[in-house]
Amino acid sequence: MKPEKLLSFSTHHLLLLLLLSFSYFCTRFSSGSTDTITSTTSIKDPATIVSKANSFQLGFFSPANSTNRHVGIWFNNQISPQTIVWVANRDNPLTDSSGIFTISEDGNLVVLDGNHNLLWSTNVSSSATNVSARILDSGNLVLEDSASKMVIWQSFKNPCDVFLASMEFMTNTRTNEKIQLTSWNNPSDPSMGSFSLGLHVLHNIPEGVVWNGQKTYWRSGPWNGQIFIGIPNMDSTYLSGYTLDIDDQTYYLSATFNEDENFGYCL
Ligand SMILES: *[C@@H]1O[C@H](CO)[C@@H](O)[C@H](O)[C@H]1NC(C)=O
Ligand SMILES: *[C@@H]1O[C@H](CO)[C@@H](O)[C@H](O)[C@H]1NC(C)=O
Ligand SMILES: *[C@@H]1O[C@H](CO)[C@@H](O)[C@H](O)[C@H]1NC(C)=O
Repeated sequence: MKPEKLLSFSTHHLLLLLLLSFSYFCTRFSSGSTDTITSTTSIKDPATIVSKANSFQLGFFSPANSTNRHVGIWFNNQISPQTIVWVANRDNPLTDSSGIFTISEDGNLVVLDGNHNLLWSTNVSSSATNVSARILDSGNLVLEDSASKMVIWQSFKNPCDVFLASMEFMTNTRTNEKIQLTSWNNPSDPSMGSFSLGLHVLHNIPEGVVWNGQKTYWRSGPWNGQIFIGIPNMDSTYLSGYTLDIDDQTYYLSATFNEDENFGYCL
């Protein structure tokens, strides 16, 4: 069923107040390097792949002041500091440069160490026999059926601490399933930190909430149909680019920024 668009609003304030950390604009250039990993190709540290229009790069990186190696995605044309928008093996880094990012025999994207120990997996089961993974110009990493292009898994549904333009926050009030951001432990360690940001729904009314562990750290105030009532100066002049969709007890908050820009917020 197609989600019914019920409300349209801006959470600029919510996001700016909470996530205020960066807004980067990527100019796009064209180039010929690959954006795809197949069952017969893999990324071996320090190799990388780059999205088609050169917006995002995927490969191994070390966080600031760390020698650990993680697989991540970052803005391609940014010199320094590197802004990591997504991390695969958040909790399981390599301590050397023997890492491999590839597609395993069971069709999952995996991070392996030099002894082929499994450090991370997309961990989905699908009937697809021939899958490949692609880094898109939105920053989304998709695992798809090579023939049908049906998406089996995507990083946008498993985010870390960064919200990119075409992502969605999601909360299903029946299953309690959520797509939300989780902070890094510290700038040198992308493992799961204590802060998370997502949509909380009470009596069918959504609200933006930052949790610190189980505790509510901040709330936007309930959505009154037009604004989050707890955010000062949020008024109808900001009805610019955010949409709330509700479908079958599932609430989606998405952003529609200018498509020429890659824009993000970091928790
Ligand atoms: C890295 O270490 C340097 C020197 O100790 C320090 O100034 C800097 O703030 C550190 N950076 C991060 C992100 O922790
Ligand atoms: C993989 O998924 C299964 C079932 O969906 C779950 O029991 C298991 O803990 C998952 N493993 C990892 C490493 O996430
Ligand atoms: C997998 O799909 C790709 C693209 O459709 C194709 O080029 C490749 O030969 C296929 N590999 C196998 C083992 O079927």
